[in-house]
Amino acid sequence: MPTREEILQALESVIDPEIRRNVVELGMVREIAIGDERVDVTISLTTNGCPLRNHFVVAVRKALRELGVDEVGVEFDVLSPEEKAALQRKLGQPVLPDGSGAPLTQIQNVICVGSGKGGVGKSTLTVNLAAALAAEGKAVGVLDADVWGYSIPRMLGLGAERPPVSAERKILPLEAHGLKVMSIGFFVAEDSAVVWRGPMLHKALNQFLQDVDWGALDYLLIDLPPGTGDVSMTLAQLLPQARFLLVTTPQPAAQKVARRAAEMATKVELDLLGVVENMSGFTTPGGERFAIFGEGGGQQLADELDLPLLGKVPLTMPLREQADAGRPLVLEDQDDAAAQAIRQAARGLIAATPELPPLLQALPELPVTQNVPAPTGASLPMA
Ligand SMILES: Nc1ncnc2c1ncn2[C@@H]1O[C@H](COP(=O)(O)OP(=O)(O)O)[C@@H](O)[C@H]1O
Ligand SMILES: [Mg+2]
Repeated sequence: MPTREEILQALESVIDPEIRRNVVELGMVREIAIGDERVDVTISLTTNGCPLRNHFVVAVRKALRELGVDEVGVEFDVLSPEEKAALQRKLGQPVLPDGSGAPLTQIQNVICVGSGKGGVGKSTLTVNLAAALAAEGKAVGVLDADVWGYSIPRMLGLGAERPPVSAERKILPLEAHGLKVMSIGFFVAEDSAVVWRGPMLHKALNQFLQDVDWGALDYLLIDLPPGTGDVSMTLAQLLPQARFLLVTTPQPAAQKVARRAAEMATKVELDLLGVVENMSGFTTPGGERFAIFGEGGGQQLADELDLPLLGKVPLTMPLREQADAGRPLVLEDQDDAAAQAIRQAARGLIAATPELPPLLQALPELPVTQNVPAPTGASLPMA
């Protein structure tokens, strides 16, 4: 079993998503009980009804699993008034957050879509998988984390409009085709280049997750930029429950790059969920099939990483055309071969993401806030 010091060090990866600092630094780790087989951790919350308990349970279990401890109990108590006062002084905040400002607690599944390299169809698959999940009756959000090469707004026919701000000062995602959507593209002049440095990027992603009122979602799909180091790290910290879906083409070269992305995801403790192969051949109207980008890369990657291959999406012209026209193909054409493969992959995703275990579901539901959109558009304070 690890020592108390090792456990404390591991718990530094557990972030309070509202205060945005780790629980060790915040003095919120009340107790660590090390048994023969298991470790029990007590976390002190700012209020009794704090809706962030789910987040802490997942994050603490994950931190300890990294130390090889599989049996983990997570208990909660509440900071005493003196402790709260001390924490307030330390943070220089007149009131401590009570969990209500962390909308992420209402998101069941977070899926990062990544590939390591650009142009393999990550964004196309993100919007179409999202639309296919919505068609299966799921509440779905799409976060465009490709801050350098954002393309989600165009693919969903959005862009001219700015996201409104709620009465609670939260940014409201735009809606398109039944999806809630957020992108840096909503905040910058069309097609202008955005230069991001590390801390600013971290801050922007933070805002997209913390200051956007996503509401209750079954799935939040995150379109990652290629070469995902910084972004994945930030996301993994804020969203310990996030999982990683790898996109590759059938080429050995693309598959190698995707494997590096997978290694990186594992390094920042994001669980891998599965592989989708895109651009898997082209079939002519006459029925002749060409393996334009080679063959077998997706299966090979899935085998190597011991992951399910959730789909092989062929090249079809309508998939590109509809993306250019701002409409997910899966909602337009049921017969297209790519649309069918994506729908099947979406059903695979649902099967691979079972509902949370009963313990986590037993927590009280959050009240649903009625947001009144303000007439003016939102702006990102970090700019
Ligand atoms: N299976 C496919 N069939 C036809 N065109 C595709 C397919 N997948 C992607 N595309 C097209 O390829 C281009 C790159 O895809 P995109 O999703 O932007 O890649 P990424 O996000 O990985 O950079 C886009 O123009 C898109 O419409
Ligand atoms: Mg893209």
